[in-house]
Amino acid sequence: MTNSADVAKGGDGAEWVSTHKSHESYSEPGPSSSALAEVAKGGDGAKSASREYLQRRSFIELSARDRAHGLLDPGTARELAGPFDRIESPWLSVQGVTPQADDGCIVMRGTINGNETVVIAFSGAFQGGGIGEVSGAKLTAALDLACLDNEDGKPTSAVMLLETGGVRLQEANLGLATVAEIISSIIALRRHAPVISVIAGPVGCFGGMSLAAGVSSYIVMTPEGRLGLNGPEVIEEESGVDEFDAGNRSLIWSIFGGQQRYDQGLVDVLVDDDTDQMIKTVRELIAKGVPAVHRSEQIDLYRSRIAALDPSRQWDPKELHSWSAASLLSSEASTKGDARPTAPNEGPANEKEKKQ
Ligand code: COA
Repeated sequence: MTNSADVAKGGDGAEWVSTHKSHESYSEPGPSSSALAEVAKGGDGAKSASREYLQRRSFIELSARDRAHGLLDPGTARELAGPFDRIESPWLSVQGVTPQADDGCIVMRGTINGNETVVIAFSGAFQGGGIGEVSGAKLTAALDLACLDNEDGKPTSAVMLLETGGVRLQEANLGLATVAEIISSIIALRRHAPVISVIAGPVGCFGGMSLAAGVSSYIVMTPEGRLGLNGPEVIEEESGVDEFDAGNRSLIWSIFGGQQRYDQGLVDVLVDDDTDQMIKTVRELIAKGVPAVHRSEQIDLYRSRIAALDPSRQWDPKELHSWSAASLLSSEASTKGDARPTAPNEGPANEKEKKQ
């Protein structure tokens, strides 16, 4: 069931657009889609675009550990509660699932551009990045330690690399409990220092962890990323394949994909799958500091946006994009400087447009 709170949380707007069958304007993004589009055009621009494309280092293709390592300044990364500590989930083997020594959650401390930062990375390859008791405790403890450091006068930011199907199904109640703790820890930390959510990998960020992303200071996505409350599999399971075909990747990305979420103003920065761009973006957001007003505090703004939508009819993703653009531009003036809806094709936040 869709309700206004779902939409306001930046989560799952799926149900009021999902039944619409026309979604040709969006498709599942290929790797580094903008560079490839330039190559496809041919001509002089194509040569430099292909050179740029070939020189790129994919962020998505890195393992979770390498993503965390890559964001931190060279020589500063140190892993906490790492695989040799063997803090494994006690609940998986009894269900016939082999546990992983890091429980799919990597915590690294170090600096980013000289600023103390903790990076927490989820591995989508392990149980779809599902969050359980141990991985949840690792994330919460990392955020709480950063909060204590801030209170002790040592400014410390947090970057969450979210690649997660939400609460780990095998640890449902414990996972749900941990999501509450995570949200509470983010809200405590974000008063002192930015908490940045990065949704880069193709698994995306779903379930309770989409709420965690929603309360963070900034959200960064790639076009390949996905963000939603109810995942496609869950909607199909609950409402049937006619309501939402979880096998239709084009439909999925037209609704949950990074481009659509950015266009809706639910994401602060959209970057290509490029490690250097990702590092630059995270550095800029840390330098920007805590937003004057967090997205999750802009209740009146999001309530008014929801009120302007007519949920009794089906919405085409393309039409939704146009509506979002108009709605965002009108709210733009009153929210400058905040973690806020960013209008499509506007503003320095969009790395792609900066280069053009
Ligand atoms: N807990 C445990 N395992 C999970 C999981 C979760 N929350 N989410 C995904 N997985 C597992 C899948 O079972 C699958 O495992 P397998 O390879 O052993 O079959 C693997 O991760 C990949 O998932 P799959 O659905 O095959 O990949 P996909 O790319 O098509 O879709 C999601 C990924 C996350 C979009 C999809 O799995 C989904 O919709 N999940 C539900 C999200 C949701 O609503 N969560 C709410 C829980 S609070």
